[in-house]
Amino acid sequence: MSIPKLDAPALPGGEEFADTALIARLANELYSGFQRSAIGGGSLGGTEGRPAADNGLAGAYPAETRQFAPPVHPASQTARRDSPATDSGGHAPGSTETYPFGEPRCAGGSRPNAAGQTAPAPEASGTKGGATDSVASPGYYFIQRAESVAPPGSPSFPPGSPPSPARFDVESIRRDFPALAQLVNGQPLVWLDNAATTHKPQSVLDATSRFYGRDNSNIHRGAHTLAARATDLFEEGREKVRRFIGAGDTKEIVFVRGTTEAINLVAQTYGRKNIGPGDEILLTTMEHHANIVPWQMLAEQTGAAIRVAPINDRGELIVEQFAALLGSRTKIVALAHVGNSLGTINPAGELISLAHAYGIPVLLDGAQSAPHMPINVQALDADFFTFSGHKVFGPTGIGVLYGKAKLLEEMPPWQGGGNMIRDVTFAKTSYQGIPAKFEAGTPDIAGVVGLGAAIDYLESVGLPGIAAYEHKLLEYATAALAPIKGLRFIGTALAKASVLSFVIDGVPTERIGKHLDQSGIAIRAGHHCAQPSLRRFGLESTARPSLAFYNTRGEVDALEKALRQIPRN
Ligand SMILES: Cc1ncc(COP(=O)(O)O)c(C=O)c1O
Repeated sequence: MSIPKLDAPALPGGEEFADTALIARLANELYSGFQRSAIGGGSLGGTEGRPAADNGLAGAYPAETRQFAPPVHPASQTARRDSPATDSGGHAPGSTETYPFGEPRCAGGSRPNAAGQTAPAPEASGTKGGATDSVASPGYYFIQRAESVAPPGSPSFPPGSPPSPARFDVESIRRDFPALAQLVNGQPLVWLDNAATTHKPQSVLDATSRFYGRDNSNIHRGAHTLAARATDLFEEGREKVRRFIGAGDTKEIVFVRGTTEAINLVAQTYGRKNIGPGDEILLTTMEHHANIVPWQMLAEQTGAAIRVAPINDRGELIVEQFAALLGSRTKIVALAHVGNSLGTINPAGELISLAHAYGIPVLLDGAQSAPHMPINVQALDADFFTFSGHKVFGPTGIGVLYGKAKLLEEMPPWQGGGNMIRDVTFAKTSYQGIPAKFEAGTPDIAGVVGLGAAIDYLESVGLPGIAAYEHKLLEYATAALAPIKGLRFIGTALAKASVLSFVIDGVPTERIGKHLDQSGIAIRAGHHCAQPSLRRFGLESTARPSLAFYNTRGEVDALEKALRQIPRN
């Protein structure tokens, strides 16, 4: 293919590499608080230095007969032994550290970065209470030349911190994901359905199966070894989530089934308590149904009204109109950090400040941001933040609600049952404090262990490097698909992440999806559970490839080739 801007072989030291290094450096500077040590060995950016013809596709697919069950994932062999807080559920046979019951403690399952280092211990990362991380405007994600986001005189690395010139080794990363190494319809699987769900690294599979194979127990109440072990693993998972999103305290981390459940929880607890007749709930046009329907249900229950902040023709929120809709009646704002159908990155920090000027709390739906960029809920000043484990390379059935402690403490419990109570009589029940108050019943313990392993993995690769790599890949894909006859992108915001929604004149989106599947390429075709956002563009459906950091230019080329071959009417 011929895309002048991006096709030139990009070798270290060349222009392309310099762009990537620049983006990576900017990302580092923007998010300096918690990832320096994670990228210290330089896991960033270098795959952009690979010739455009192949970034990992060729040779990456072994025969279909390959067995995917290494007894010990390589990552666990290089895991730090001095960092129990980053453990992900693996057990080090040689470990001398013990539980109070005499059992060995867990060893990490994270992936070594380019320098063979694993994710930093939280103390080393400096994120605890990490209000210094600025994530309000991820400028490097903008679809424009990298130079334009590097103002002259931008700060350089302080002495001793590395500029991370090493390559982002996507081929090595791909080998950690067994599901990617298969043939589908006789072709190498090209997984471009990441906004729907992501594949799991071997370390997540290992951590989960290790939990069931060895540590399985209910938590918090048992006076035996396995209960202690399982409880430790579960609470370590909570600490990993705290660190991952830059929360100040683990008690602000509530485990739920996913983003959908998190939003329903807030609507039915915070909402039922604080929202009444005549009050307003402010949403945006680009929301996923999970951030619409729970609020509609609440509005029906309480007599409140839904207000919707509009988007422009590029799919960007019109900030002035958002601001104009805020007022004394507005009782909560709920909006996507990144829109799932359009890919728009909202200026969350700015929007939260606008709402806070009226004293209005903001729920930020992070389902599509957490997989792609560093998150710091304290820097954002988000009141609530939600994400799903399965979209951050972890298991299905587990997700997170972050809430500021003060808000969570004042909220009534949602579901009642075991684990969330302090004392029960038939006359009265008193409740646990947060977060247990919101975690009735046996939680998805293995899910938390797997989510913790996914976070370890992401941190060992490095979120800033992931963001920079994906930005370049999105640019590449945008340039590759744009010239295809009749193709029109839906969602062309300057700030975008991961998603390439489009239609092709005269070709139903379902046919696009089925045609691509014949070539082993998985995308989503439909309304993406965001009907109002597509109807804003007069559409009921789009085709939606969505990227992750294990995707390659070679895969984008395969997508482009298959789209060019699609039968037309
Ligand atoms: C922006 C957004 N919000 C919420 C959800 C719902 O997530 P889950 O189905 O994991 O609860 C999704 C899922 O695609 C999403 O993209």
